[in-house]
Amino acid sequence: MLAVPATRGLRIRPVGPFDLGRLARLHRRCFTEAWGRSDLAHLLAMPGTFGLLARLQEHRRLVLEPRRDVGFAICRVAADESELLSIGVAPEWRGRGVGAALLEAAMARCRELGARRMFLEVDVDNRAAQKLYERFGFTRVGLRPDYYRHGDGRRSDAWTMRCQLMGEGQATPPAD
Ligand SMILES: CC(C)(COP(=O)(O)OP(=O)(O)OC[C@H]1O[C@@H](n2cnc3c(N)ncnc32)[C@H](O)[C@@H]1OP(=O)(O)O)[C@@H](O)C(=O)NCCC(=O)NCCS
Repeated sequence: MLAVPATRGLRIRPVGPFDLGRLARLHRRCFTEAWGRSDLAHLLAMPGTFGLLARLQEHRRLVLEPRRDVGFAICRVAADESELLSIGVAPEWRGRGVGAALLEAAMARCRELGARRMFLEVDVDNRAAQKLYERFGFTRVGLRPDYYRHGDGRRSDAWTMRCQLMGEGQATPPAD
């Protein structure tokens, strides 16, 4: 059965200084190698780095439910290049369009900040994420052997993927 798309009550907004706890909780639910509050604080303090938080408010039986944190994306922009550092959707909200909405918002923000290309690394075994990236025009441009180290000591390779955010001839929109 197809899950109901989540995009209707979805709000995506920049991560602020008071969001680090909720961002860390979400990250822990998405990855076995979790980034803690202080890791995230350091990362987001780096020049050109920003985070986005997806929050969802649903109507159930005519009642407006409290807003929930359902996903996040973290990116870095340096000159005309950008990198998707992490993206995750809470397990129970996957397959409802949240990841696509986050990636679209992240790409738009990187474009606004002047990036022409976006890069990312993805585990060769992570087909769900690869499909998401392919849907947005990312293609494989390289392989990084043993890029990921897992908690059980196992290592796995990563694909580097790239997507053109702006045509080479296109003017860069001014950053805010
Ligand atoms: C990857 C991830 C962010 C996708 O988020 P999501 O909200 O489930 O994705 P969406 O519902 O927006 O799906 C968008 C597209 O992604 C692809 N996709 C998502 N889940 C998929 C799955 N389980 N299998 C195959 N393709 C999948 C599909 O192309 C889908 O488009 P479609 O619905 O039109 O077919 C989510 O699975 C996740 O958080 N995974 C754990 C963390 C992770 O691996 N992050 C990426 C690290 S590089």
